[in-house]
Amino acid sequence: MSVCLSAQTREANYDESKVPAYELPEPLVFSSGKPVSSRRQWKKRRAELMELFRERMYGREPSAPKDISFEVTKVVPDAFGGLSTMKEVRIMLDPSGEHYLVMLMFVPNGAEKPVPAFLGINFKGNHTTTDLEEVSLPDEVQLRNYGPGYQVPERGLNARRWPYEYILEHGYAVCTFCVHDPEPDLKGHYDYGIRKVYDGGSPRPDSWGSVSAWAWSLCRALDYLCKDPSVDARRVAVIGHSRLGKTALWAGAMDRRFAMVVANDSGCSGAALSRRVYGENLGIINTSFPYWFCSNYKEYNDAEASLPFDQHELIAMIAPRPVYVASASEDLWADPYGEYLSLVYATPVYRLFGYDGFSDTSMPAAGDSKVIGRMGHHIREGQHDCILYDWERFITFADRFLKK
Ligand code: GCU
Repeated sequence: MSVCLSAQTREANYDESKVPAYELPEPLVFSSGKPVSSRRQWKKRRAELMELFRERMYGREPSAPKDISFEVTKVVPDAFGGLSTMKEVRIMLDPSGEHYLVMLMFVPNGAEKPVPAFLGINFKGNHTTTDLEEVSLPDEVQLRNYGPGYQVPERGLNARRWPYEYILEHGYAVCTFCVHDPEPDLKGHYDYGIRKVYDGGSPRPDSWGSVSAWAWSLCRALDYLCKDPSVDARRVAVIGHSRLGKTALWAGAMDRRFAMVVANDSGCSGAALSRRVYGENLGIINTSFPYWFCSNYKEYNDAEASLPFDQHELIAMIAPRPVYVASASEDLWADPYGEYLSLVYATPVYRLFGYDGFSDTSMPAAGDSKVIGRMGHHIREGQHDCILYDWERFITFADRFLKK
């Protein structure tokens, strides 16, 4: 009987009238029930939430490694017809030299240095983010860490998601690396990634999942940016689409050096409230992608109401830094309304810091775009994707906070 029930709830619900009645945990109330009434108390509450998210959802990441080296492996001073300097940087993830990221970066030429930057992971390889022939294909070490049988996708395949020239013309550097560099985004590939190295061989129920490993790698990329004089590491926006939007949010919570966070179509276990159980739900995500989160998280399959937190508290942990949540009207799998509501329910924490936020609980119409205080939101008409339309709005938002 119960098997039957759980199979039913694992089917995605798209009917608003079937969203269960739910009560969200209050970000400004400690687990003990005591209210948070000052910024100093929020600091403690935030630490309590971080601990809960680590233990129950993302898993525990290792501390930043010491003595990790970087190497600039390629410089093209006149990429995009002179608009930009392109660089490739090898960023070591462990002292063995067996695991590294190859970060591709474009810095606008002629702009006053250091410039603000966007940093985000790509799905299929640096060479898929642009047609530029100068961008290297993955090397032998990278391919070995992606696991056997990996087929290198064609150059330029995902270029629509990375409108480099537009971003550069607006005065931002842009940096990216392939998701598989730290940890392959493939089921059953634990043996190939960085998690195993730091786990000491075998995972525990609260060992980091791959979303945590990707987020941690974004922090390592930021470590490099702190040493690159062309970029202002105090003005870096971490950005991501979909599973990598989930990752950007967690990176922003984990590492307060990120000055801004942008999550595009991040959906279930990203910006969307889990308790709405609308579109993709925890049972579905933990079954399709069992390696994204720690194994403790599976306890909440078909039991969202028993989570000790919800995703609005992930947004709250980014406060008071600027945060942008974007959705697409046809991307119901990601629950656009639940993504928006997370902003609304994180607003009390922004207010504690003296910034306004969203308070209207009605669903914004397709095509709407709004900034209030340090929160931005839009819902593009159309499907799950990250295109120039989205970037135009991210840049307008970033111009308010990251330009001098
Ligand atoms: C799947 C997954 C989503 C994820 C998306 C993506 O659809 O279920 O949770 O956001 O892939 O990363 O594109």
